[in-house]
Amino acid sequence: MNLGFIGTGKIASSIIYGIFKSKLKINKIYISSRNVNIAKKLNNKFFKIKVFSNNQEIIDRSNVIFLSVTPTVGNKILNDLNFNNKKIIISLISTIKLKKLKKLTKSKNICKAIPLPFIENLDGPIIISPKNKTAKRIFSKLGHVIEIKDEKMSYSFWSTSSVMAAYYEIYNSTKNWLKQKGLKDRVATDYVAELFLALSKDAFVKKKIGYKKLVVESQTPKGLNMQVLKELKKVRFYDKFKQSLENVHKRIKK
Ligand SMILES: NC(=O)c1ccc[n+]([C@@H]2O[C@H](COP(=O)([O-])OP(=O)(O)OC[C@H]3O[C@@H](n4cnc5c(N)ncnc54)[C@H](OP(=O)(O)O)[C@@H]3O)[C@@H](O)[C@H]2O)c1
Repeated sequence: MNLGFIGTGKIASSIIYGIFKSKLKINKIYISSRNVNIAKKLNNKFFKIKVFSNNQEIIDRSNVIFLSVTPTVGNKILNDLNFNNKKIIISLISTIKLKKLKKLTKSKNICKAIPLPFIENLDGPIIISPKNKTAKRIFSKLGHVIEIKDEKMSYSFWSTSSVMAAYYEIYNSTKNWLKQKGLKDRVATDYVAELFLALSKDAFVKKKIGYKKLVVESQTPKGLNMQVLKELKKVRFYDKFKQSLENVHKRIKK
C-alpha cells in the first residue's frame, strides 16, 4: 500500500512518525514538499518517504490519500486535482464537510478522520466518519479507532479535540506558578508531568465508576480540593469551558 499526504504539516508528520513506529505494512509514503522543513526532516529520517512538489504526482502514485491541509488551502486546491474513484481519500480537514469534499474531489471514496498529534506515540482516540474499512485498517494500528456513522455526530468530536491547547495551558500555568514559588524549572516540570500523568491514568483505570464520582471522591469535605473546585465554579470556569466547546461546534456545523 502506498500512502500520500497532501500537506506535510503538524498532523501529517505526527501520523507518519506513528506509522513508522507501528506494525502497519506500507510500501511507500509520498509527501508534499510543503512544509519544506518538515518534509526534509521526514525524508532524511525514513527511506520509504519520497517528497514531491506536485500534489497530482502524490495522488497518482498513492492508493490512499490523506488531505492534511488547512480548510482555506483545501478549498483552493482540491477542485483542480484528479482523484480517480479507486483511490481512498481520508480528509483530516476540520471545516470542509463531506458533501463539499465529494464535490471538490469528484470522488465518493472519501471519509473524514480526527487523529491528534499524540498519534505519533500510537496513543489516543481517532474518530472516523463515516465508516471506512481502509481508514480503520490504517488507524487501528495507530490508536483507538471510534467509528461514527453520522457525519453530524462527528462534529461534536471536533469540539472536544480542540481542548488540547487549553489542557496543556493548565500544565504550563501550574509549572509557572511552582516556579514563582521558587522551585527550579526542571523540578516543577517533572512534578507537573508526573501529577497529570497519574491523574490521567487513574481516570482511565476508574472510568467505569464515572467521572462524576471521581470528582466527589477526590474531595475531602472542607478540604483543599473542594476549595479549588468551589472557587473555579464560582467564576463559572466550567460553564465557560463548555461554552467554548459549543462555539467550536457552531463553527464546525456551519
Ligand atoms: N494539528 C492537529 O492536531 C490536527 C488534528 C486533526 C486534524 N487537523 C486538520 O488537519 C489539517 C492540517 O492541520 P495542521 O495542524 O497539520 O496544519 P499545518 O501544520 O499548517 O499543515 C498544513 C500544511 O499544508 C501545507 N500546504 C499549504 N499549501 C499547500 C499546497 N498548495 N499544497 C500542499 N500543501 C500545502 C503547508 O505548507 P506551508 O507551511 O509551506 O504553507 C503546511 O505544511 C487542518 O485542516 C486541521 O484542521 C489538525
